[in-house]
Amino acid sequence: MDNLFIATVLLKGDEMQIKKYSLTVFGCQMNERDAETLRGFLDEMGYEETAAAGDADLVILNTCAVREKAEQKVFGHIGRLGLLKQKKPNMLIAVCGCMVQQKAVAEKIRKRYPFVNLVFGTYNLAAFPELLKQAQERGETVVSLLAQAGGIEEELPVSRQDNYRAWVNITYGCNNFCSYCIVPYVRGRERSRKSADIIREVKGLSDRGFIEITLLGQNVNSYGKDLPGETDFAGLLARIDKETGIKRIRFTTSHPRDFTEKLIRTIAEGENICEHVHLPVQAGSNRILKLMNRGYTREHYLDLAAMLRSYIPGCSITTDIIVGFPGETDEDFADTLDLVDKVSFDAAFTFMYSRRPGTPAAEMQDQIPLELKKERFRKLVNLQNSHSLRHNQALLGKTVEVLVEGPSKTNPAVWTGKTRTNRTVNFTGENIRKGILLPVQIIDAKTWSLTGRTGFGQRNADD
Ligand code: 5AD
Ligand code: SF4
Repeated sequence: MDNLFIATVLLKGDEMQIKKYSLTVFGCQMNERDAETLRGFLDEMGYEETAAAGDADLVILNTCAVREKAEQKVFGHIGRLGLLKQKKPNMLIAVCGCMVQQKAVAEKIRKRYPFVNLVFGTYNLAAFPELLKQAQERGETVVSLLAQAGGIEEELPVSRQDNYRAWVNITYGCNNFCSYCIVPYVRGRERSRKSADIIREVKGLSDRGFIEITLLGQNVNSYGKDLPGETDFAGLLARIDKETGIKRIRFTTSHPRDFTEKLIRTIAEGENICEHVHLPVQAGSNRILKLMNRGYTREHYLDLAAMLRSYIPGCSITTDIIVGFPGETDEDFADTLDLVDKVSFDAAFTFMYSRRPGTPAAEMQDQIPLELKKERFRKLVNLQNSHSLRHNQALLGKTVEVLVEGPSKTNPAVWTGKTRTNRTVNFTGENIRKGILLPVQIIDAKTWSLTGRTGFGQRNADD
């Protein structure tokens, strides 16, 4: 470690200068967690993080491929970095993650943006220090893509930005091949970590004072299926709840096809498992669900939602929905709106279908025009907003437990945090600091957030 440190310190006259890096993360929590491993490596190499790419000796973009918009954003960023590099020719630029795991994209970067020093895919995160060294030494772009994932590496460094909440991987990859989705092609087949390793990690976090963990996987419900004799996801959750002492357990993302009654009971019975399930439905029409290769019907989904609400009092259900999937008719879309009304989601992430080259849906007939997608999107968002507001209003006057995340980004005089059901609460009060659990009384409700106050007496959290 000392040698690595010396290697990254530049001598500039008599002055020692620590090298700086900036890291921009696009996309989902999986990418956020991978970024923490990159930060861990960079810490070991003696780098310091800076928010401004202009100050950085090394700029890293960890990219997302789920929608075309995310990819366009990255190309825009790379273009701007090219201009910056004209002023700072020694700056290194690295692009990694899901977008560049697609061979054609990696090639495009090599050809059109030759000033990029390093391009590496999702399967060789562990090789980052070695690849960075090669990029420093070589005059041309180093491109490193592996065709498939290797085994799970347990000993990679990690540098977390918070000391009270953490992402914890439980599975990598996805076997579902939903017809619109690029993820199985850029993250590979499903691999589960051993439960003993997961429990050791969570116990370690809890012992160090962490309050909340989020278990991560593309489909957490299929945890353990690839490891003979390993526990299933419900069993894993129950063990984490009983054995680690961590106060808040979250998990994402769930797949309705594999979501079992046993799992619902486990959440209901667990003391520290948060009453929130993110359960992407994607569409409310059986015809579209079939074309999407989702493996369940709207009736199955409605049954699950009803079971969640009846077994787990106060359970929050959130979802992902795609509008404008190829061939979606007005009737199909009406089925989606109807399902949204029937379930009454607490919140939803809504997306316009984005054509991803290499996926089956990209080749389907009847691609929906953008204007129609936009119109459906607006209708869906308006409907969902009314449900989100109604759920938030139901909390008026109640006292909820909030995990404090820090001062609000838009108003530093106000604190912000999350309830167990993952609602954002902005509040005021005395003696507050980041990373503590607090009872907060709700005094106002909006579509996207709640307003609260502290210091009104006894602790009586009921959310
Ligand atoms: N177009 C639009 N949305 C997509 N998602 C995944 N692939 C696509 C696509 N091609 C959405 C799904 C998924 C979320 C992470 O992104 O709703 O649950
Ligand atoms: Fe994509 Fe479907 Fe896998 Fe989720 S479950 S990552 S939507 S293929």
